[in-house]
Amino acid sequence: MNVPIDLQSDVAAVLVSEDQIQAKVRELGARISADYAGRQLTLVSVLKGALPFMADLMRAISLPVRIDLMEVSSYGGATTESSGLVRILKDLKGSIADEDVLLVEDIIDTGLTLNYLVRYLRGKNPASLRICTLLDKPARRLVEITVDYTGFTIDDQFVVGYGLDYGEFYRNLRYVGVLRPEVYASAAGAGDEAAEAADVASDGAIPAGSE
Ligand code: PRP
Repeated sequence: MNVPIDLQSDVAAVLVSEDQIQAKVRELGARISADYAGRQLTLVSVLKGALPFMADLMRAISLPVRIDLMEVSSYGGATTESSGLVRILKDLKGSIADEDVLLVEDIIDTGLTLNYLVRYLRGKNPASLRICTLLDKPARRLVEITVDYTGFTIDDQFVVGYGLDYGEFYRNLRYVGVLRPEVYASAAGAGDEAAEAADVASDGAIPAGSE
């Protein structure tokens, strides 16, 4: 049975407010613009979660930027955590050879997605490759990742909003919030499919007790 979604009341607490996000985006945009002064930049983002961050960040950068988008999916559940296998659903449209590339992510969790993407993009011979993420959840890291620009470092909580989903919803919230445990607990109790949906909620966080 589908439990009705209530965008606001399904969120237990606002973790990063809209104002905090927008201030951080401006700060990151200014830092990036200064660091790459006199150059042009290619922003590569990963659908779907990074969409709002990418859209805001690109407008906070004062350099000439090109953008490209990829979409990847992990090879399901627990196996993914150990194997780190990632499937490319949508590849880059253009070449990034000899370009300064900034990979823009919404969240780094285990780091497996980014670890794969960095190796993949390096293989395309960019002049440089750096990483910018809005959120970093280091408690969940399985592989070491060097992040060049981080918006907010957060605890291991189940977060939604500003691109991050649970069961594909909540991405349109203007802030990042902590999802009420009852929301994913009810899905986990509703059958295999729902439980899997709870496990692969798009912020990459696995609800406590399900690992
Ligand atoms: C999220 C996020 C990162 C990845 C991070 O994407 O956008 O790409 O998970 O997790 P990791 O560090 O454990 O690899 P997701 O696969 O949920 O897809 P979505 O962006 O379409 O929601």
